[in-house]
Amino acid sequence: MGRHPGWPARLGPLHVGAGVLEVRKPKLSDAAAWSRIRRRDRRHLETWEPTTPGDWDGNNSALAWPGQWSTLRSLARRGMSLPFVITVDGQLAGQVTVGNVVRGSLCSAWIGYWVGTHVVSGGVATAAAALVVDHCFREGGLHRLEATVRPENIPSVRVLTKLGFREEGLFRRYLDVAGSWRDHLCFALTTEDVPSGLVGRLIAEGRASHV
Ligand code: ACO
Repeated sequence: MGRHPGWPARLGPLHVGAGVLEVRKPKLSDAAAWSRIRRRDRRHLETWEPTTPGDWDGNNSALAWPGQWSTLRSLARRGMSLPFVITVDGQLAGQVTVGNVVRGSLCSAWIGYWVGTHVVSGGVATAAAALVVDHCFREGGLHRLEATVRPENIPSVRVLTKLGFREEGLFRRYLDVAGSWRDHLCFALTTEDVPSGLVGRLIAEGRASHV
């Protein structure tokens, strides 16, 4: 199985409000921390994440992680995804996933993220996404990244706005989230928009700093 551009990778560290942030590939040993946060934060996450069959606690148990981890690893090895976990002060704090990687004359993918309530509003999602976007545009060889978000998801719209993503349209009844087909705003960024990278800009704006 061949490697593909940009995978695997370890990104950071960066200092943000919540602590020292790093982004790395998921590990089998992330099961307990991943499950603890996701079960605890069900209400925070379920409103915004794609609907999945089965019950929340079962889907997010430590026993469910090996299956998810193996799927993510396989997609990454086939060049279809760059699935990262976020750590803050060395502890798992969330995920950033780049999915549906299409190459050729498109060179495009989507990006999505979540973080635990214990680090929320600490600049974590913004800095983690900035590291991943820069990586995808450089080592990853991608040209465009899209992010779709429910208009009601104010914190996530704010993350994309802080990063400089451009709002390009409204997708009607786009994704099954929390049990219904929900409208989503489409945001996007291309390499031309950020010739010097996003991390440098976040640092210049005082939103993150080198460790
Ligand atoms: N009203 C207005 N602004 C708010 C509110 C609110 N109720 N809550 C948070 N914010 C602001 C914060 O103040 C901050 O902006 P600021 O830096 O200008 O002060 C911004 O929203 C959040 O920025 P970060 O701190 O970088 O983001 P955070 O690490 O808190 O993560 C996230 C944001 C990922 C949306 C988190 O809340 C989360 O995990 N939510 C649940 C899952 C989710 O919605 N994922 C995103 C789905 S869409 C997608 O993936 C493209």
